[in-house]
Amino acid sequence: MHALPAISGKNKYYFDLEEKHGAHNYHPLPVVLSKGEGVYVWDIEGKKYYDFLSGYSAVNQGHCHPKIIGSLIEQAQKLTLTSRAFHNDLLGEYEQFITNYFGYDKVLPMNTGVEAVETAIKLCRRWGYAVKGVAENKAKIIVCENNFHGRTSTVISFSSDPASYKNFGPYMPGFEIIPYNDLGALSAALQDKNVAGFLVEPIQGEAGVIVPDEGYLSKAKQYCEDASVLFIADEIQTGLCRTGKMLACDHENVRPDILILGKALSGGTLPVSAVLADDQVMLAIKAGEHGSTFGGNPLACKVAITALTVLKEENMMENAHATGMALREKLREMNSPYISAIRGKGLLNAIVIDHKSPEAAWELCLVLKENGLLAKPTHGDKIRLAPPLCITKTQIGECIRIIEKSLTGLNQSM
Ligand SMILES: Cc1ncc(COP(=O)(O)O)c(C=O)c1O
Repeated sequence: MHALPAISGKNKYYFDLEEKHGAHNYHPLPVVLSKGEGVYVWDIEGKKYYDFLSGYSAVNQGHCHPKIIGSLIEQAQKLTLTSRAFHNDLLGEYEQFITNYFGYDKVLPMNTGVEAVETAIKLCRRWGYAVKGVAENKAKIIVCENNFHGRTSTVISFSSDPASYKNFGPYMPGFEIIPYNDLGALSAALQDKNVAGFLVEPIQGEAGVIVPDEGYLSKAKQYCEDASVLFIADEIQTGLCRTGKMLACDHENVRPDILILGKALSGGTLPVSAVLADDQVMLAIKAGEHGSTFGGNPLACKVAITALTVLKEENMMENAHATGMALREKLREMNSPYISAIRGKGLLNAIVIDHKSPEAAWELCLVLKENGLLAKPTHGDKIRLAPPLCITKTQIGECIRIIEKSLTGLNQSM
């Protein structure tokens, strides 16, 4: 566990409350936030920060986007939940909107990201039995090493990270883990006729923004097609303009058979996720066979339409592309001896910290915080740099100065 700096005053009150009454399943940076707007968040003492995590890419449109909050408030005063026992006057319009937006026949609405992943797994297995003709209970899904698809017991069953799976068994069978970015391994795994799907993150976010070789996704899609296997893209973190395209798969003109979205689908206001597919896949699940009390609720539908509209209206895809290029270019120019790698696409980026201390990335995040920028290490030595997509080039310039100054501060603090 990382060391925390001495804490006093009002902050201590909030830390202590969480420590005493909350489960200890997170290790947050020592900052207590109480306000957000656009690319900024403020702590309880009124200090302003650039948010370089964006709620793990849920706040692509910026904090408290006025149009999204407007829709949220308007709909919250009208109707929030009907359950799917009845129709509501927004579900159909949302379904039409999102399927047109992404070019699929159908959508299945859920809430959190991992629920959408679970839904995609069930859908894929069902398709395997009903359409591909896999023998009962034999369906297999290929996944990648170092994946992150969420935290349910099925999804951690195919994690390769002991922190995610260890001592949470027994595990759900039916998954095969292959190395990421390895077409040979995929091709070999696809020889098994029971394989129904290949579930992949187009860029591995939690693993530290691992960008596969160019051509990996398009070839993987082709291999899947040739083997009658569904290509399932988890775009929960990479989708919705984060990487400088609407979907990260768009970089290689790949159209997934099953597309999984979440996070920024609500602009970070409430859990909204979705699974998109064409009829041949989606209609394999029939009435009463899958669902969720909150999935497709009118509040979520209204907010998601606005969140998706804002992405296009405000050219967030183009901005993520341009500001992301500027960010990586300026990080490279910095030529810091403490940065061993800079990688990413659009505004999903990571730097890898090279320092004799294994605590350096955490320490750097503490210094960044002092200097007005919030970021969090992932897997020890990597720091994700993923601000909201409304950040300007001028703001990127300011952030670069903060990062440069903090790297100098890191040397002094360790
Ligand atoms: C690629 C990916 N899939 C799934 C999830 C799980 O989403 P949620 O935390 O909303 O369940 C995440 C969350 O970080 C993610 O990055």
